[in-house]
Amino acid sequence: MPITVEPNQSFFQWLINVKLSRIVIMVLAVLILTPLITHFYLSKVERSNNYITHSAHSHIDLSGDFDVTEIDLRVGVEELIRIRSSVLKELRNIEKKRQQFKQELQSYSKNIEELKLELAHQQTNLNRLKISVEQAQVAMHEALQQNTPDLALPERLLPDTVPPYLPPIPRNRSRNCKMFTCFDHSRCSLTSGFPVFLYDPDQYPVMNDGWDVDGFLKTTLKQVLGYNPHLTQNPAEACIYLVLVGEALKDMDDVSENVGNHKKLPALDAEALKRLPYWGGDGRNHVLLNLARRDLSAHSGDVFSQVDTGRAILVQSTFYHEYFRPDFDLITSPVLGPPGGDVWQECTYMLPSRRKYLLSFQGEMKANKSNILRKHLVGHDQELEKENHELNAFMLQHLKELANTFTSDKFLFEFECIPANDDSMKTGPQDWALCGTDSSRRTVLKDSTFVLIFAPTSTDYISTTLVQARVYEALRSGAVPVILGGDQIKLAYDEVIQWKRVAIFFPKARVTELHFLLRTIPDEDILLFRRQGRLIWERYLASVQSTLDSIVAILRLRLNIPAMPAETVAALSVFNKTFQPLLVTPTGEVEQEESLGPLEPPYDSPSFRRNYSLGLTHGDQIWNDWGDPFRLYATLPLDPLLPSDAKFIGSERGFRPIGNGAGGAGKEFAEALGGNSPREQFTILLLTYEREQVLLDSIARLRGLPYLHSVVVIWNSPKLPSPELRWPEIGVPVHVIKAARNSLNNRFLPLDNLKTEAILSVDDDAHLRHDEILFGFRVWREHRDRIVGFPGRFHAWDLNTKNSWLYNSNYSCELSMVLTGAAFLHRHYLHLYWKWLPQAIRDKVDEYMNCEDIAMNFLVSHITQKPPVKVTSRWTFRCQGCSQNLSEDDTHFQERHKCINFFTQVFGYTPLLNTQYRADSILFKTRIPHDKQKCFKFI
Ligand SMILES: *[C@@H]1O[C@H](CO)[C@@H](O)[C@H](O)[C@H]1NC(C)=O
Ligand SMILES: *[C@@H]1O[C@H](CO)[C@@H](O)[C@H](O)[C@H]1NC(C)=O
Ligand SMILES: *[C@@H]1O[C@H](CO)[C@@H](O)[C@H](O)[C@H]1NC(C)=O
Ligand SMILES: *[C@@H]1O[C@H](CO)[C@@H](O)[C@H](O)[C@H]1NC(C)=O
Ligand SMILES: *[C@@H]1O[C@H](CO)[C@@H](O)[C@H](O)[C@H]1NC(C)=O
Ligand SMILES: *[C@@H]1O[C@H](CO)[C@@H](O)[C@H](O)[C@H]1NC(C)=O
Repeated sequence: MPITVEPNQSFFQWLINVKLSRIVIMVLAVLILTPLITHFYLSKVERSNNYITHSAHSHIDLSGDFDVTEIDLRVGVEELIRIRSSVLKELRNIEKKRQQFKQELQSYSKNIEELKLELAHQQTNLNRLKISVEQAQVAMHEALQQNTPDLALPERLLPDTVPPYLPPIPRNRSRNCKMFTCFDHSRCSLTSGFPVFLYDPDQYPVMNDGWDVDGFLKTTLKQVLGYNPHLTQNPAEACIYLVLVGEALKDMDDVSENVGNHKKLPALDAEALKRLPYWGGDGRNHVLLNLARRDLSAHSGDVFSQVDTGRAILVQSTFYHEYFRPDFDLITSPVLGPPGGDVWQECTYMLPSRRKYLLSFQGEMKANKSNILRKHLVGHDQELEKENHELNAFMLQHLKELANTFTSDKFLFEFECIPANDDSMKTGPQDWALCGTDSSRRTVLKDSTFVLIFAPTSTDYISTTLVQARVYEALRSGAVPVILGGDQIKLAYDEVIQWKRVAIFFPKARVTELHFLLRTIPDEDILLFRRQGRLIWERYLASVQSTLDSIVAILRLRLNIPAMPAETVAALSVFNKTFQPLLVTPTGEVEQEESLGPLEPPYDSPSFRRNYSLGLTHGDQIWNDWGDPFRLYATLPLDPLLPSDAKFIGSERGFRPIGNGAGGAGKEFAEALGGNSPREQFTILLLTYEREQVLLDSIARLRGLPYLHSVVVIWNSPKLPSPELRWPEIGVPVHVIKAARNSLNNRFLPLDNLKTEAILSVDDDAHLRHDEILFGFRVWREHRDRIVGFPGRFHAWDLNTKNSWLYNSNYSCELSMVLTGAAFLHRHYLHLYWKWLPQAIRDKVDEYMNCEDIAMNFLVSHITQKPPVKVTSRWTFRCQGCSQNLSEDDTHFQERHKCINFFTQVFGYTPLLNTQYRADSILFKTRIPHDKQKCFKFI
């Protein structure tokens, strides 16, 4: 059957049409014919080589001729065998050659691949250089444009003489002193730094005979002011002069003998004041401190009211309305605490929000002493006084009834002291006496959600020591003060402290509505009050030091003089001056074949730009929220942002908008930082301990990382690096800093060579890719107040004990910590870690050699009341080769459980917050057209 091939039929169709047998025959024919032909030619070649004469004809004949002799046949067979072996040999050669060619081919294609990679790499480098050049041009253009340099006076401006003599002013003028009438601003230039001079209380006593200043106060005051950076020993340069007046204690031995005498003599000796060497006739810029400590009522009254104090500023806790000069005199809290140091142990754990008693009070109203004292009052005033007493009586009556009404709320009211407290000395002009002892009151306060505090029965007072002391006690134990008559008094430092966030001020006339009001306050607000109270107490009231610092800071703030800059730690290199570390250029490739941003010269974050505006625009937050009013910081995590149009209208300097403002992905994105903040860079902070090679490898991997300012390595080991170490040359400075001792707290040292706001804290063995780092950096720029990083962890409630936390590092859909082994955080928090965090926490870190990262998470969450931000999918970074010691691992975990619970105790609550949020790059996993680019290729 003939095979017909249709012109349009394809080869495969044809194949199918052909019968299988025919294919077999054809294949066989080809198979038989091919060797024969090959054989023929090969043997011919062989013959010509070996000079053997055999007829080619005979071979051809093999297939068809049968007239050959036996010998011929044998010869033929031998010949065939020979040919076979030579063919085999030939084939082997060919095979060998083939292998060679294959290998060559492989190596060529490998070369091509490498060249391609190299090309891509060079292309990336070229792109990066192009970006770098462009960015450098923009920076240069900016520098040229900027014709107003940043302003700063080269020197402090200080007075150089003590205050000259001026005639004293009459009392009717000094009674109305204001800063603009009685204060000499010429001694306090804005750049003076606010020098404060202290008269040594032993050298310059100002009390009358029979009165004395508490010895503890004298020594403590000298000591704690010694820590205040504003203190000066030079009276000629001082802006203000501090005089310690009290606490005025009557010398009890004298009382019996000289009673008559004392009744006439005021505590303060006006003549002694005038004899002070820098009084200058009228006491300009003098600050008289009457600090109550032991005696909360009797004699710490207004010691100044009967004395001519000239133009001096008065600071005390008891003031008559009549004598208090607002915005000039200062109401302070009594100094009931220790000289200084950690006070967290004094504070009560903040939870549960509702305690045993809804409201408590322990105190006793004494006789109408104020009436006796003020009996000269006539007419209208007397009427008022009478009304006031009626109100007080009504108020008491109502409260007594309240305690006996049937309600689920518990009250603890003690209006008569048991055991009787009839120390009449303790009543004085202040008509409420304290019941019980400090510790018995503390027990009750710890059980009280709210505590009643009565404003003095007499409306003559704007503040009394007793009320201030009661507020102090309440805040220390986490009881929210409810001040009945709160509208008639002022609490300490009220020009800066927002007391309405701490205490409930309630007019006495509304006492009937008190129970209702307290019942409506939800748990959240109770805790806000309590938390705020603790903040205010710890920062401004707790110790003699905090009181003194507050007084100095408030007076300084009135003059808008910036605080002293926060101290940094001098970064000492591990290398001596003469030693030049050996450098080596890393051979490995820069990791990503992706151009991630410009390589720029180091650019420090601008700092101290808000010296004179910070206190004005953010003063309230600094005093009442996240700030530290005692120190000036180069930058703060919550420094304000400009609106997005400002970058194009007048304030463009320093901004690098994406696509010059037109936006874009891929290339444009890589070229500029964009975002809401001006251009900046970050510093890598590496803590290392005796793992030299691991460290060097980690540093080497940083070569070519855009926006990297510098690398700071903290060398925790006492053993200095071997001089033979070859340090990788990565294009940015690497500072290796000697640590004073091996401590994990060193991870957060506020070193003076950290020049950027953004700090990337990493373990020496952490392995992060460049794109991950830069992505983290970009995310941090939008969450500058938080920890932004990679390894997420969480604190889990222990369901077995049901009263503590467990540390957990399992994968989870909720987290509350980001470990600082690989995280960005603001430089400001390094200061807070060392200066603000209680020492007990750093001690615990040293004890366990663990937990510094948990402590930092507590700190930042406490300040921001926000959880950290986790970026990208990475959870862990441990080097692959590193062996894990399981039992070591277990202790490590046990310690971390303990740390969380201990830190919770110190903070008074657990500041960590949960988050289910993770930051991934915007176009990550987005399907985009092939001609469009993502933000990052891989993440
Ligand atoms: C702001 O304060 C810092 C630290 O004291 C100082 O270095 C800087 O010069 C000040 N800036 C101005 C403008 O005074
Ligand atoms: C202050 O008192 C003096 C006399 O002591 C008197 O001459 C003067 O007018 C008074 N000034 C004012 C403002 O009351
Ligand atoms: C206080 O004095 C007022 C008027 O002088 C009187 O009505 C009241 O009963 C007195 N209160 C006490 C507790 O003695
Ligand atoms: C500096 O350090 C190097 C290496 O650690 C050492 O060899 C050299 O003696 C040191 N020089 C001085 C002046 O201490
Ligand atoms: C973590 O997960 C593993 C396996 O799911 C579990 O056995 C272990 O108990 C978990 N660890 C913690 C601390 O929850
Ligand atoms: C693991 O750590 C424990 C405790 O530090 C130690 O006793 C033990 O020898 C270590 N085991 C190994 C294999 O390193």
